[in-house]
Amino acid sequence: MARHIAFALLLSLLVCGQNIASADFDFYYLVLEWPGSYCKDSSVGGCCKPTTFDAYPLDADFLVKGLYTYSSSGQPVTKCNTTKFYVNALASLIGELYVHWPSIQCPSDNGVSLWRDAWTNYGVCSGLSEKDYFNSTLLLRKKINMLSVLKWKGIVPSNILMYSPTYVKTAIRLALGADVGIKCSKNKFGAFQIDEIYVCVDKTASKVIKCPVLPKFSCGLAAYFPYYSNSMLKSTSSSFDPLQMVTSQ
Ligand SMILES: *[C@@H]1O[C@H](CO)[C@@H](O)[C@H](O)[C@H]1NC(C)=O
Ligand SMILES: *[C@@H]1O[C@H](CO)[C@@H](O)[C@H](O)[C@H]1NC(C)=O
Repeated sequence: MARHIAFALLLSLLVCGQNIASADFDFYYLVLEWPGSYCKDSSVGGCCKPTTFDAYPLDADFLVKGLYTYSSSGQPVTKCNTTKFYVNALASLIGELYVHWPSIQCPSDNGVSLWRDAWTNYGVCSGLSEKDYFNSTLLLRKKINMLSVLKWKGIVPSNILMYSPTYVKTAIRLALGADVGIKCSKNKFGAFQIDEIYVCVDKTASKVIKCPVLPKFSCGLAAYFPYYSNSMLKSTSSSFDPLQMVTSQ
């Protein structure tokens, strides 16, 4: 009897182990971050110029926060294996990464640790090479062009206007043909502000799809979409040599 139980236990361990090893993702969340909201997020200590800023200033546009691998039950699929991150594999994309996928947290850094985390947590589950994973993410950001999607419906960055999150979602649905998730943060006055937009993307990392699961966030009845300019980034004094940055990591 005891042996049967032990055997059953062992069997279920083996089966579970296999499930974990073959953990497969079903879709991606492309997460776009609005820097104007990040800089004013009351739970964050402001935003800082990336160390690469002088050579690669940012656009006043959405940044890439990440391309997350998810299962259709709404669970993140992470750390599928330990394929190492090599920043040198991204040499042909490095300028784009500095501009569109930078770290604007404080203290300033060059973004490499952000990309390493993106790769070791999610990228390794994508089945793509490192270069293709980052290239696909950058291409998606560009193709979706969220800032013009919003502008098309009169939703423009402003420190005065507030927008209905439902209206914002509708505007995006009309343009992309799919619902998105909108995550808000709060500014120092406790008002909601549009912080991140979650867009669902198919397994090939090339097409927007209807979300198998929509992330649930609350943005209240009205939220700011605050104005952004690079002057909101706090300065740092360190100098930067783009070539050295790539080869020394
Ligand atoms: C990124 O992907 C596109 C589309 O597949 C391709 O044309 C381009 O050459 C790639 N860029 C790099 C740097 O690999
Ligand atoms: C890591 O896991 C992903 C997803 O299961 C797979 O596509 C990729 O080939 C794996 N890489 C290695 C080196 O095992």
